[in-house]
Formats: sequence, C-alpha cells, structure tokens
Amino acid sequence: MALCNLPNRRYFFCEGVKSMLGIHAISEISVKEIERLLDLADEYKAGKGTRKNLNGKTVALFFSENSTRTKMSFTLAAQKLGANVLDLNEDTSSINKGESLIDTAKTLEAMGADCLVIRHKESGITRYLQKHINIPIINAGDGWSQHPSQCLLDLMTIREYKSSFTNLNVLIAGDILHSRVARSDAEALRKLGATVSFAGPKTLMPPETKTTLWPECLKDTDVLILLRLQKERQEQGLLSSLNEYHNLYGLTEENLELLPKDSLILHPGPVNRGVELADSVLENPRSKIHEQVKNGVFARMAMLYTAVEGRKIVEISA
Ligand code: CP
Repeated sequence: MALCNLPNRRYFFCEGVKSMLGIHAISEISVKEIERLLDLADEYKAGKGTRKNLNGKTVALFFSENSTRTKMSFTLAAQKLGANVLDLNEDTSSINKGESLIDTAKTLEAMGADCLVIRHKESGITRYLQKHINIPIINAGDGWSQHPSQCLLDLMTIREYKSSFTNLNVLIAGDILHSRVARSDAEALRKLGATVSFAGPKTLMPPETKTTLWPECLKDTDVLILLRLQKERQEQGLLSSLNEYHNLYGLTEENLELLPKDSLILHPGPVNRGVELADSVLENPRSKIHEQVKNGVFARMAMLYTAVEGRKIVEISA
C-alpha cells in the first residue's frame, strides 16, 4: 500500500493502484491495470457486469473544448451504469462570470458529484485540479498531452482482432505534433509490447521524432492509426494544402493496396474525409473506425466504474 496526502485527508490506495486519485495519463496506469480495465470493458460489452454499477452516484461532465464521441459516450456510459449525469458547458457556466476552474470543480464536488470528467485545452489541467479536490477526475483530453479514454478504446478494438500486443507493428500517421491520442496510444502500446513507428510531414512531428517512409512502411503494418489533422491547433504554414497532404500522406485507395489484408485501420475521429483517408476507405472491411466508437461506450464504463469504485481508497483519518 502507498500513502498519499490530499488536502485535509489521508488515504491509503489499495494494491495495484500506485498513483493519485482519478485517471489522468496512461503513464500512471500499470500494464496490469490496463488489462483489468480492458477485461471490464469487454464484460460490459458482453452484457455482463451489471453488478459493477454506479447506481445512485453522480458523474459531472465539464467540456470546454468541442466533442461528440467522448462527451456522448461518457454520458451514455454513466447512464448505463445507473449514475446521474451533470453536464456543465463552459459557455453557459459561471466561468463566464469570472469563477475559476478550481472553484467550479469544488462547487460540483460540494453538490455531491462522485466523479468529474474534464476536457480542456490546457495540458496537465486535470492533474493540477486533482490536487484541489477529493473526488476522482477523469481526463477526457487535455490540450496536446493525453487522451486516456481514447487510448483505452483503441486498445480494446485492437485486442478484439489481434491475439496479442506483443510484436504487433503499429504505425501512427499524420499530425503527431498536436495529437494527445498519439502520445497516449504510443506510450500504452509500447508498454504492452508493440512496436510503434510514426509517419507524416516533418512540420507535424515533435522534434527528434524518428519517422518511417510513407507509404512503403504500410506493407509491414499490422495496425494503422490515422490521426486527424488538428487544424484548430496548427499555426499557419505547416502544410501547403490539404490536397497535397492527402496525396503525400493520406490513405488513398492506391496506398490501401500496400496494407496487409489482415491489418486494421483506426482513426480517433472526427475524420476529415478526403484528407487523412479517401472516402471509400472508411467503409473498407479493414477499417474499424465505427467499432472504435462503439467500444468507446464500454471502455468509458470501465473507466468510470474503476475511478469511482474500483480504485477504491480507504480514508484513514480526517
Ligand atoms: N476522438 C475524440 O476525442 O472525438 P471527439 O472530439 O468527438 O470527442
């Protein structure tokens, strides 16, 4: 057991839980715990695990960046677990009257929320907020930094089709520089034994990232993770045109021929059709993009349950 001090309280974390409250980054989750989360997500998908619920609990969502998949699936996941859902939008919240994010989180905690799910443009914000409140926070995507719930659903989807992560060749292609998905996925997949490589324009790579030759690299790829071009985070001049990007780094019908027949094509969404991939590729049997969305609900059920109940902490003194 490890001891951790939070404001006004001291906690013991149960065995296997090595870090702080909440789920902030893949680096804080051990291989054993990732496997446990994936098993639980599979259980929910198979219609089991009804006793692992959050009946009577309250999950609060606070998204200050746009989202369809993550927000809707956390909402659905919480509802399927039997929890009440509070949905706070930055634009209509008292943040617009000058209230701080810490006070906003404390307010939701005081109302009795059992968990906060936060998406924000600032990298590291959930870990920072966690120092100020005593209910778990789940990172639903923070700036360029981490997207642990997307990572978990990606792992779940890969595990459904590939027997093992060990020695799997995973290629992450596109806008690596601005992608929290790339950071979380690469870290988790390497931890699980996969070989991860990157492809894309130099202007969209973090400094000193080794890249592989596109499209030649496709022939050795078991899993291709295409990334959305994050136009909202990009400076001017990183790309000459979207059309040129598609021709040089897109998954065109021609490039698709290079990919092994049993490979998987993933994309976190939303997809820029005709940019990261040709329209027709989306419906190719190797594309598991719709399956990823479906799995997102079950992966997030597992995260919510684990954050609120599974990562149970025992209060030992006030
Ligand atoms: N992949 C993902 O985070 O999608 P949304 O922005 O729609 O939530």
